[in-house]
Amino acid sequence: MAINHPSFGTLADGRIIIFDTTLRDGEQSPGFSMNLEEKLRMAEALHELGADVLEAGFAIASPGDFDSVQSIAKRFAKDGPVVASLSRANTADIMASAEATKLAARPRIHIVLATSDLHMRVKLRMTREEVLERITQSVTLARNHAADVEWSAEDGSRSDLEFLCRCVETAIKAGATTINIPDTVGYSLPADMGLIFSTLMNKVPGAEKVIFSTHNHNDLGLAVANTLAAIQAGARQVECTINGIGERAGNASLEEVAMALRTRQDALGVATGVTSQRILKTSKLLATITGFDVQPNKAIVGRNAFAHESGIHQDGVLKDASTYEIMTPESVGWTTNSIILGKHSGRAAFRDRLKTLGYEVGDNQLNDAFRRFKEVADRKKVVYDEDIAALVDDEVGRANERIRLTGLNVSTGMGTKPMATVALEIDGDRADGMATGDGGVDATFAAIRQAFPHEVTLKLYAVQAVTSGTDAQARVTVRLEEDGKLVDGQGADTDTIVASARAYVHALNKLLVKRQRTEPPVVLRA
Ligand code: KIV
Ligand code: ZN
Repeated sequence: MAINHPSFGTLADGRIIIFDTTLRDGEQSPGFSMNLEEKLRMAEALHELGADVLEAGFAIASPGDFDSVQSIAKRFAKDGPVVASLSRANTADIMASAEATKLAARPRIHIVLATSDLHMRVKLRMTREEVLERITQSVTLARNHAADVEWSAEDGSRSDLEFLCRCVETAIKAGATTINIPDTVGYSLPADMGLIFSTLMNKVPGAEKVIFSTHNHNDLGLAVANTLAAIQAGARQVECTINGIGERAGNASLEEVAMALRTRQDALGVATGVTSQRILKTSKLLATITGFDVQPNKAIVGRNAFAHESGIHQDGVLKDASTYEIMTPESVGWTTNSIILGKHSGRAAFRDRLKTLGYEVGDNQLNDAFRRFKEVADRKKVVYDEDIAALVDDEVGRANERIRLTGLNVSTGMGTKPMATVALEIDGDRADGMATGDGGVDATFAAIRQAFPHEVTLKLYAVQAVTSGTDAQARVTVRLEEDGKLVDGQGADTDTIVASARAYVHALNKLLVKRQRTEPPVVLRA
């Protein structure tokens, strides 16, 4: 029977709802925090990708989280994805989620409450009857503020299945419109998932009126397998993240689930609304924002995902790619990695290429990106799509920055003390710094500290090559800490020291934004 859902109307048979939680479960993992502007960029990209629901955050967690959820809700005030906010099963959390999401055209309040004996006893200190009572209270309250309410059974996969049935029945009776069963600790096997979903969907009165959802963690590397097993048992919403980021070993990866459903349509018979050609761009945007690349062998979006090394494979692919490729690289956004533009290329060709790569930039951003492109093209023999993506992502992330790097000179070598001079523009005024250090990067950071005095601890410094070759662009991540607040900055350039300086200044700008906020302590776990 077709389900009639407040946000989706009559859900077409076989349509899978993609609930993206990159901005909540993903952002919750160490090192993956994003600021408001970055979350808005990700939200935009996820919308373009075709995510149906964006879990924009955990509104009660901090004023910053509240702002992000509210800003994303405002962005999708007319149409766009459902905007959800997580809440524990208490009044304050639910009211914060209701307030933060209310401007969205389709707001959702997401409530989570643990249902396993272990969690109820140790964490909640509640009896089964108290948990059932709390489900009724919290879902009823949420339904007074939103038509679309999702209820999640935390540690659902390790819960007593009979009790889980009672919880789900209670949530449905109180008005929940989506029921989510998380494998919170990544413990389940695919067969367990199948059993849980088929039992709930066959036994619970009212199950036919709601959408069942699956949310899997990857502690045993089974998140995607468990997601597919849940779908085969009847789940119609999958909760996932770009690049599989999330608590501990992460969540089911959106790109892997979407491509498994597409590639194995024959066996699974369901479909998502994902525009698969945008997958790579979205994955790369997240990597640029967070500073963490995926591993080379990562399915779909890893550098080697479509690389054929062995002679036998290469021979087969040259004769007919389908001998060793189960999907085309183009179908997920890879383009042939040839020289695409050079130093003689004009603005129109550059803009055109950006469009092909999926970037819509304004005139100012185009000018800045084009200037950077010319600099790179002057220095680099070949300019790849990845180079262009790296410099545009870098440039877009810099809009509205108060501190700008306008000059850098470094002298270094064997037997000499490395020395750096930097020129910054701080709120429009020029400031210079000069310092020596243990290496060119150290001297550069010291010179920046002289031009803009501040005290921070450098927590992480990481360099990654955007493409191969000695003239490859370097992408640098710098993590700074000030009074317990952590910020990550990124910078890209063919010169590693310039990329490092850009990353440091990027992190400083984020720190300035954080300083304007005084945030109370954050409780992030539901
Ligand atoms: O893993 C989990 O249980 C969660 C819930 C909050 C849905 O992330
Ligand atoms: Zn989770």
